[in-house]
Amino acid sequence: MNLYSSISPGALVLLLLIFPTLINNLAAKHGYKATIHHHHNLLPGKAMSNHRLQRAYIALQAWKRVIYSDPNNITSNWDGPMVCNYTGVYCSPYPNNTKIQVVSGIDLNHYDLAGFLPEELGLLTDLALLHLNSNRFCGILPQSLSNLILLYELDLSNNRFVGPFPSVVLSLPTLKYLDLRYNEFEGKLPPELFSKSLDAIFVNSNRFTDVIPRNLGSSSASVVVFANNKFGGCIPRSIANFANTLEELLLINTSIKGCLPPEVGYLYKLRVLDVSYNKIIGPIPYSIAGLAHLELLNFGHNMMTGDVPDGVCCLPNLSNFTLSYNFFCEEGGICSNLTSKGIMFDDRRNCLPNKPQQRSKKECDAVDQHPVDCAQSCGNSLY
Ligand SMILES: *[C@@H]1O[C@H](CO)[C@@H](O)[C@H](O)[C@H]1NC(C)=O
Ligand SMILES: *[C@@H]1O[C@H](CO)[C@@H](O)[C@H](O)[C@H]1NC(C)=O
Ligand SMILES: *[C@@H]1O[C@H](CO)[C@@H](O)[C@H](O)[C@H]1NC(C)=O
Ligand SMILES: *[C@@H]1O[C@H](CO)[C@@H](O)[C@H](O)[C@H]1NC(C)=O
Ligand SMILES: *[C@@H]1O[C@H](CO)[C@@H](O)[C@H](O)[C@H]1NC(C)=O
Ligand SMILES: *[C@@H]1O[C@H](CO)[C@@H](O)[C@H](O)[C@H]1NC(C)=O
Ligand SMILES: *[C@@H]1O[C@H](CO)[C@@H](O)[C@H](O)[C@H]1NC(C)=O
Repeated sequence: MNLYSSISPGALVLLLLIFPTLINNLAAKHGYKATIHHHHNLLPGKAMSNHRLQRAYIALQAWKRVIYSDPNNITSNWDGPMVCNYTGVYCSPYPNNTKIQVVSGIDLNHYDLAGFLPEELGLLTDLALLHLNSNRFCGILPQSLSNLILLYELDLSNNRFVGPFPSVVLSLPTLKYLDLRYNEFEGKLPPELFSKSLDAIFVNSNRFTDVIPRNLGSSSASVVVFANNKFGGCIPRSIANFANTLEELLLINTSIKGCLPPEVGYLYKLRVLDVSYNKIIGPIPYSIAGLAHLELLNFGHNMMTGDVPDGVCCLPNLSNFTLSYNFFCEEGGICSNLTSKGIMFDDRRNCLPNKPQQRSKKECDAVDQHPVDCAQSCGNSLY
């Protein structure tokens, strides 16, 4: 199963409608890139074919000037007016006037470039894709990116961007795929992030803090990955607002506490629910037993108590269920028989009688003496 599944098929179809030849160009260019690397016959000053490419030229030259390390020399052919021939730059016919070419995609994934993003990138107004995964870009995003009104996919993952959540992305009207993972963004996530019509939101492995916004809005995302941040707080009951779209919710290692709200069980499209490595207390809400599409369920490394209901263990598509490192004290008969059905099941280090590799009686008794009141588990507010 692909936990970090990329753009949905629906989104790709839409992208193809916007820039029908972009995907072909991407494929073709990757094929012949090796032979095109070192051109020195470009004629600087040669007339550009249109003013949109001229603006792209200005933007890309400005960018090249602030790329301070390029170990693979990929910007060595970023010279002269033929921007469509630059490594990593993709052109397509302009949607409203197919006679002219425009820069519709930039894909610099895995080039290990170091530098920053200059204001001039705001001149790339025809860009639909900006993929900068696995480089060493640093600093903050220029405010001028708000001019990229056709931007559909923004992948900044695995770079060195810093500062607060880059709110400029909230102003991009057609953005569907936002990947900020593995950077050093900090502070809180803006609630507006969840009222945009995004398909996928990846913010994992940053330094986000504060709580997951309570007013999640009506998100349309199918994949939300919050993992490895220090949010703290509890899962808001408004998580139910994701119900119509959310398929993967990964809250691994996000310092969340309190009980799991029953609303998690309203996310009826969920295939993946992973809340491991947190400080969640209290029982498994019975509503989880209604998540018919659930394939992966991970409660591991929390402080959950109570019983593991049969209703959860007999979910039809469950293939991997982890509840190790909690304080569960009882499990249904179906649960204890899951491995015989070929389901990955891990219930080690709990308080389950007659099961191997459980916690000591002392550890279990200590928790037993402190019953959990979920209504109080997050301060005064419910959850
Ligand atoms: C740029 O690419 C076009 C189309 O792929 C090609 O025809 C042309 O020769 C290239 N120009 C230069 C200067 O490399
Ligand atoms: C990049 O260019 C430098 C200087 O021209 C050269 O020493 C180096 O080997 C080149 N690296 C690659 C990967 O082509
Ligand atoms: C294309 O034309 C339509 C109608 O004239 C206009 O609304 C739209 O903004 C244009 N799109 C671009 C990218 O210029
Ligand atoms: C949890 O996230 C923190 C950063 O917030 C990281 O340092 C730590 O290694 C992560 N722990 C696990 C178990 O992944
Ligand atoms: C269960 O998984 C199978 C095979 O992946 C799939 O065809 C089916 O639709 C799934 N059922 C539910 C309820 O998700
Ligand atoms: C089952 O899930 C656990 C926790 O998410 C993971 O570590 C493990 O690799 C998974 N096993 C399989 C066979 O998918
Ligand atoms: C466990 O599963 C086996 C094979 O699927 C079945 O024969 C047995 O009755 C089950 N035991 C319990 C306690 O459900």
